Parts: sequence; structure tokens; C-alpha cells
Amino acid sequence: MLKLPGLIDPHVHVREPGQIHKEDWDTATQSALAGGVTIILGMPNTKPPIFDSETLDIALDAAKQKARCDYGQFVGAGPDNAHLLPTISDRAAGLKMYLDSTFGELRLDDMSLWTPHFEKFPKHLPIVLHSESRTMAAGILFAAIYDRPVHIAHISLREEVLLIKAAKEKGIKVTCEVCPHHLFMTADSPLPEGEGLGVRVNGRKEVRPRLATQKDVDALWQNMDVIDCFATDHAPHTLAEKDSDNPPPGFPGLETLLPLLLTGVDDGRLTIDDIIQKSVINPRRIFNLPEQPETWVEVDENAVYEIKASEQFTRCGWTPFEGWKVKGKIRKVVLRGKTAFEDGKILVEPGYGKNVRDQ
Ligand code: DOR
Ligand code: ZN
Repeated sequence: MLKLPGLIDPHVHVREPGQIHKEDWDTATQSALAGGVTIILGMPNTKPPIFDSETLDIALDAAKQKARCDYGQFVGAGPDNAHLLPTISDRAAGLKMYLDSTFGELRLDDMSLWTPHFEKFPKHLPIVLHSESRTMAAGILFAAIYDRPVHIAHISLREEVLLIKAAKEKGIKVTCEVCPHHLFMTADSPLPEGEGLGVRVNGRKEVRPRLATQKDVDALWQNMDVIDCFATDHAPHTLAEKDSDNPPPGFPGLETLLPLLLTGVDDGRLTIDDIIQKSVINPRRIFNLPEQPETWVEVDENAVYEIKASEQFTRCGWTPFEGWKVKGKIRKVVLRGKTAFEDGKILVEPGYGKNVRDQ
């Protein structure tokens, strides 16, 4: 039996408020615990988006009632809320800025709208950027100009990891995360298709950033030392939505993160220390998160099994990794002294989870 610290996932779309048919604070945190994750940080592209004190309270109230693992909640950068955010930043996980197009309404196209956020948001918390390719380069330039930390979400391209490496070498305060789907899949990976889709686009493949080429995936693996965190970008949408004419982008990921990483260890591509650094130590430092006493995950390292959506706790009802054979099964999760998950069952109640900013 392998014992690991509880993992931190700094990138989770909880969907509450507003879209709880996809997920809510209860199912997202059950999914987390079943995946060995004991802290999740929720993204602000909800309905309504989390962009001021009132909307932050709506999300935090729901989390307080329902969360079964510990949590934080990001606030989102809008065109005219930069002056509001410093006063509520202590209650937030950090600031998320959507600089490229994705699911939801929070997109800042005009660079002049970025400036007040870079000027005003407190420097002890990172600004997290959804910024791909050249937009990412612009975000790193802002970090250099304003001399403040930025964290690049879900990198997927060779050119991105190489630029981050160069920026780090120059002392720019940039960190980054990578998602399992960008490490283990390419645009050519076969994914299950919805029945009767015919020649139509396979909506189950839609994710932002898109799945990339083998050359990109290879570069991520080769530059693993540049990558600070693993993050799932857990983005649940129902199968009916994914198989519709207008499929929203996003994959669920909380329950497949650790089994996939452990399979990477079994393949000799990762070490257990990589997992601890990138899923516990680095995210705790970057996002200023508290230690969780008496918290650990027990894994049967040798158990080989198939990933099945029917065994998952996420409400969305599917996984892009359906049928994948993985090695390493999570048997037990203890969170702050209490067994929270054991042998496929969640054992803590809604409300057991704590806000990481309350302590
Ligand atoms: O694929 C994605 N889905 N990428 C994002 O950036 C947002 C997410 C979502 O909220 O569904
Ligand atoms: Zn996301």
C-alpha cells in the first residue's frame, strides 16, 4: 500500500451556481475525494459568473453547505470589476482571467482591460490566465511589466512550455499547470462517440485548449521540470450536451487524475516525487494554501483496472478515458483525521469541507 498526501487540484469547474445539472459542490467534492484530491479550487465561469462580493458569497455559501472536501473559489476578471476585487481577494483562491475564448462569458479581449487587474490584484495571490499560444506570451509580458506572479492554466503546446522555460530563466514570476488529457491524449486519440452521430463532429473531443499533436505532447513530457502543477480542468458537461449539435468544451477529470499519473509512474515516465511536488507542494506554495493535518491517501499500487464512468461520482456521467486500463487504485482517503472515502464509498457528509481561506 502506497501512502500519499491529499492532492490539491487548483483547477475545477464546480458549476454551482447555475448549472447544477452538470455538477454541484456536493458531487464535485465527492468526485475529488474518490480521486484522492482533498482541496479543490473552483473556477468562476459559473452562472452568474463570480465577479464581485455578492456572487462570491453565493458560491461560498453553497460550498459551505455542500462541500465534502476542502475548497477555495476564484473570482473572475471582468471589464469593470478590477477596483472591487482587492477588497474581497482575501476570501478568494485568486483571480482568474479568461483571455481566450472558452465556455462561459468571462472573456477580456482588449488588452487595456487587463491592465487594471495587473495593477490592483494583490501580489501574494497569483493571477491565473487562460491564455493560449501568443496570448500566453502577452500574459507573461504583463507579469514582467507589473512584476507580479502569473500562473498559466492548462498548457498544451510545445511553444508554450518552451516560452515558460525561457521566462523562468529570466526571473519572470511565471508558473504553470498541465492537465492529464494534454499529457496522455493527442488530437488523434480515439475517443468514444455518441450513438447516431454519423459524420458530425465528435463533441466528446471538444476541450479548450484543444488536444494537441504528438510533437506537443512529447515536449510537455520532455520539459516536465518546467511544469509546476498537475491540474484537471475538471469541466463536466452532460453526455446529452456533449453529443448535441453545439457541444460545449470540457472533460471531467477529478477521478482519473491520480490513476493516470500512477500509470505514468509504472511506465517509468514519472516518479512518485513528481506527483507529490506537482499535486501537493507546488500548488500549496503557489496558491498560498494551508497544510491539511492528518490527511492522506492510500493507494493499492499494483491494482490494475479499467476506468468506467458508471463507477464515478461526477454528475456528468461520462469520461474521455472510458475503458482505459490503469494501474493504481485509490482505496482510502483520510481528511483531517476522518476517513472520507474507502472502498468506493464516500464517508463524510456535505458540509465537512472547509474553506481554505477561513483558517
Ligand atoms: O474545455 C474547457 N472547458 N476549457 C475551459 O477553459 C473551460 C471549461 C468549461 O468551463 O467547460
Ligand atoms: Zn478551466
